[in-house]
Amino acid sequence: MEIKKLIPAPEIRNWTGPFDDKEYYFNLGKQQSEKIIQWLSVKPDQKILDIGCGCGRIAIHFFNYLNKQGQYIGIDSNKKLLSYCADNISAINNNFQFKFIDAYNGSYSRDGELKCQDIIFPIEDESVDIVIMWSVFTHMYLIDIDAYLKEIYRVLKKGGVFISSFNLYNKFISNQIKMEKAYLDIKYRINENSYSLNKETPEKGFAHNEEIVKELYWKNEFLIREIKYGIWSSKELVGEFHDCIIAQK
Ligand SMILES: C[S@@+](CC[C@H](N)C(=O)[O-])C[C@H]1O[C@@H](n2cnc3c(N)ncnc32)[C@H](O)[C@@H]1O
Repeated sequence: MEIKKLIPAPEIRNWTGPFDDKEYYFNLGKQQSEKIIQWLSVKPDQKILDIGCGCGRIAIHFFNYLNKQGQYIGIDSNKKLLSYCADNISAINNNFQFKFIDAYNGSYSRDGELKCQDIIFPIEDESVDIVIMWSVFTHMYLIDIDAYLKEIYRVLKKGGVFISSFNLYNKFISNQIKMEKAYLDIKYRINENSYSLNKETPEKGFAHNEEIVKELYWKNEFLIREIKYGIWSSKELVGEFHDCIIAQK
């Protein structure tokens, strides 16, 4: 399958990042999916849950990787992005399913009826091998991250693995921001543990205190296997943009 056909129009893909450039959208998704497959040792017959899947930027790169037993479920709170996935991706491969959750987010789903803390994912207990959350916790408050971690723990199988990208706030990044050396100028203090790019709509981009984030993982019984630090904190580094936490149930 020629997956480049699944690149959405700019008015859809630009909701999920600065993606005017079609090739950049495609290649970034490809690189990130390859890292996910390698870092999490994803097998072609596994069941993957992509929370905040957007318009399927990551999903399409699993199209030619998963086999007939494999399954990909995307959930998101933005109806427009999800309809794109259902109409274009599920339409040609039924192993890819997309489900709406009615969660409020100040940046992506202002018409959402439910607080994240009241969301129950439409997924059975202990049914998923791999959970992906790319650029989603970077748009959520800590209290909501805590609630989602609980849900993720519920749906993951024992031994299942979970990757999420973050902007982790620590002493290093605080200095980098002060010295104007960071890529992202996340300088607005929202509360004692969270900073944002935007004062009025903090969900446009958070950095959360690294120690508190780790405590939330441990509180929800996850083992943190690895933290891969990204380059958003320094214009002098090369590598993946956001920080990534890889955890296991
Ligand atoms: C920056 S985009 C990333 C999309 C996709 N993960 C990617 O990497 O291309 C953030 C996505 O998270 C979704 N989102 C925000 N808050 C959410 C929530 N509480 N529950 C589920 N999805 C959410 C948005 O609708 C949007 O699709």
